[in-house]
Amino acid sequence: MTHDIIIAPSILSADFAKLGEEVRAVDEAGADWIHIDIMDGHFVPNITMGPDVVKAIRPHTKKPFDVHLMIAPCDPFVAAFAEAGADMVTVHVAAGPHLDRSLQLIRSLGMKPGVSLTPSTPESAIAYVLDKVDHVLVMTVNPGFGGQTFIPEQLRKIRAIREMIGRRPIHLEVDGGIHLETAPLVVEAGANALVSGSGVFDGGRYAENIAALRNAALAGRTARV
Ligand code: DX5
Ligand code: ZN
Repeated sequence: MTHDIIIAPSILSADFAKLGEEVRAVDEAGADWIHIDIMDGHFVPNITMGPDVVKAIRPHTKKPFDVHLMIAPCDPFVAAFAEAGADMVTVHVAAGPHLDRSLQLIRSLGMKPGVSLTPSTPESAIAYVLDKVDHVLVMTVNPGFGGQTFIPEQLRKIRAIREMIGRRPIHLEVDGGIHLETAPLVVEAGANALVSGSGVFDGGRYAENIAALRNAALAGRTARV
């Protein structure tokens, strides 16, 4: 079972005018993965960045790039993210009719496939792809924006998915509204990888924020055992 706590700062909350510098700063501050939110203004009501931006920030860190696709369709763009240096690519259940094919495509290009569930996607939607993913991303807000409020009903889903994962080496990642109060709750429910945008970037004290989140998460893990 994968139970190490992973902190993945979401650069959606970074200063886009100095993205390379921001990526280096969170790397040095203790980030485990760099979470990159890709939005198309179609699957979600916001637009962010594309493969060229991912490529531009790639030389700034050796940490894994955790690319969260909030685009539909996904498949036509997956190869471009591989070329840009993505290590992990997550697609949403709700983004298209052929999830299994998207996951196979990501793996065939040498990256780690992940599947994401929006707050309204039931855990049953991933039952038949669990053997094909390296991580499951449970959205704890509606995808599209940073700084939203955590949806507590998702704790039940996190618990159910941890159960479904069983002994498979799959990371259970959570994204949205993860702060010092919610980090222990999601870890207690079974999450081990925590995405945080505003929780890391707001206030500018990246190392302190990451350490505090990790400690809060570890408290949740102690409660779980
Ligand atoms: C939202 C994105 C998140 C976002 C989280 O659609 O997927 O990664 O950056 O932001 P916070 O941590 O501020 O809720
Ligand atoms: Zn995200």
